[in-house]
Amino acid sequence: MVTEANSAVDASGRNAFGQRIMELAGLLARWSETSDGLTCTYLSPAHRSVAAQLCDWMRQAGMAAEIDATGNVAGRYASDARAAKTLIIASHYDTVRNAGKYDGRLGVLTGLVLVEHLQRSGRRLPFHLDVIAFSEEEGVRFATPYIGSSAIAGKFDTGVVERRDGEGNRMIDVMCEAGLDPQAIPALARRPQDLLGYLEVHIEQGPVLLQENLPVGVVTTIAGAVRHQVTVTGAAGHAGTVPMPLRHDAAAAAAEIVLYVERRCTAAPTLVGTVGQLAVPAGAINIIPGRCELSLDIRAGEDPIREAAVADVLAEIGRIAQRRGVSVDVTEVARGDNVPCSPRIQQLLADAIARAGVPVRQLPSGAGHDAMLFAGVTDLGMLFVRCGNGGVSHSPREIITAEDADVAARVLLDAVLHLAETP
Ligand code: HGY
Ligand code: MN
Ligand code: MN
Repeated sequence: MVTEANSAVDASGRNAFGQRIMELAGLLARWSETSDGLTCTYLSPAHRSVAAQLCDWMRQAGMAAEIDATGNVAGRYASDARAAKTLIIASHYDTVRNAGKYDGRLGVLTGLVLVEHLQRSGRRLPFHLDVIAFSEEEGVRFATPYIGSSAIAGKFDTGVVERRDGEGNRMIDVMCEAGLDPQAIPALARRPQDLLGYLEVHIEQGPVLLQENLPVGVVTTIAGAVRHQVTVTGAAGHAGTVPMPLRHDAAAAAAEIVLYVERRCTAAPTLVGTVGQLAVPAGAINIIPGRCELSLDIRAGEDPIREAAVADVLAEIGRIAQRRGVSVDVTEVARGDNVPCSPRIQQLLADAIARAGVPVRQLPSGAGHDAMLFAGVTDLGMLFVRCGNGGVSHSPREIITAEDADVAARVLLDAVLHLAETP
């Protein structure tokens, strides 16, 4: 437990909220699976230390907090009205490999700092305010995104607990070793009728707000994605003795797939396709690759554009395999349609931004977020915060400023208090 964090700051200080958020993000980044850089994947020792720290900070802020059956850290700043509805402020605390400090964690810490302020001012709300740090949004370790948020949204797919990580560990075994009870996951689902709405503050992970010199923006829609794991199986052989025409080189087939994904996904402005993982297991410099594993991630501003690209890529993979005499196993591991943010919440955030004297900018999200899981469950909305360094994210070069984090926290506070006055 980190205790040197200053006690909750007085909101009257310049950028007080923002400074606190940056301080806490820096402290959380101390826990990593690697000695250099920040990697905090599902239920690793670093991940569990971050959860324990967040739980402790939530309790210090006056919340009833616990680590739930999926590893979410769920805190409640309760209303005096016991039967009150609940507003959720949330994001994720897991990271990609060699990550930045703010992806996900900004949203968790903004909610925490808000509650610290409410507690300090003795302010209770006519609704319960839940701050939830979701345990697994990125889907890095088990190729399974949104584990924590899907449980809270009542959309958890119990079959995923059989998935294995790169070392062959089953998710269910890792959960049990972490003291989590997979049987208790279904009970985490929130009833829609109990919810007032869902708010998520998140870094933009793109260049728009930076280019337009804006600290925050209101998200209009969140891009869905379709993800696959692909295994190409050819024929391993001696690099020096097998003539080229007789080869069934799995890596060469995969390379054709990668270039086709790139070519196909330049066909529409909002369409993107990424092969983020590409590996020859047990490869060696003098062995023709008999096996090659790769991932596919395809997204677009409109669902039909994405689906057409997915269909074309899968068909081309079949043609490449046939022509090269290799076999392919293609497994869909994640699928999500684009999700619109609720007009009510967009307006709530836009009005709060305007009251802060900031121009209101609405923009879509090319990244997926936990908020998507609440489609059809409750009204959902997101507030984006400007990224520096050209908007880069999923990189240690990811950066925000305390000033912008402060604007986001004050806009969110204004929106929450406005909701309290006009539920
Ligand atoms: O991949 C995404 O869109 C998100 O950062 N998990
Ligand atoms: Mn991310
Ligand atoms: Mn994120």
